[in-house]
Amino acid sequence: MSGNVTFTMIKPYAVKKNFVGPILKIINEKGYRIKAMKMTRFTRERAEAFYDVHAGKPFFNELVDFMSSGPIVAAILEKENAIADFRELIGNTNPEKAAEGTIRKLYASSLTANAIHGSDSDENALREGSFFFSEMEQY
Ligand code: CMP
Repeated sequence: MSGNVTFTMIKPYAVKKNFVGPILKIINEKGYRIKAMKMTRFTRERAEAFYDVHAGKPFFNELVDFMSSGPIVAAILEKENAIADFRELIGNTNPEKAAEGTIRKLYASSLTANAIHGSDSDENALREGSFFFSEMEQY
């Protein structure tokens, strides 16, 4: 995939606050093509599996509770250098440290409710996208 395809989720509190439209507008204006998208919801078990790399960390339960607390919007995005560019566009994991103009600076509420996720590698984009899209392999 060579860094050109990434996976994103707009997280529950941002969906609840009705930020899906403004966030998608930014993504669109930055030149990402939406290859697949759905509004869906994590069960607790699926959230635990998705975030298993964080199992045992102090924030794991809060993360799983939060991510299974309401609907999310999951999507596969394509653009040249999508993985790195998208991480820059969403900003620091902690919104207090996120740069001006980034999606997390604009729409995140806290470290846990940080509005949006972006994959950090080809391997994780494939793994994470495959949780929601059976056709992920074709990208
Ligand atoms: P994200 O990178 O999308 O996926 C893992 C999430 O865990 C991350 O966003 C944060 O919301 C959360 N997270 C990471 N580190 C911490 C931390 N030190 N304390 C609380 N939550 C964290």
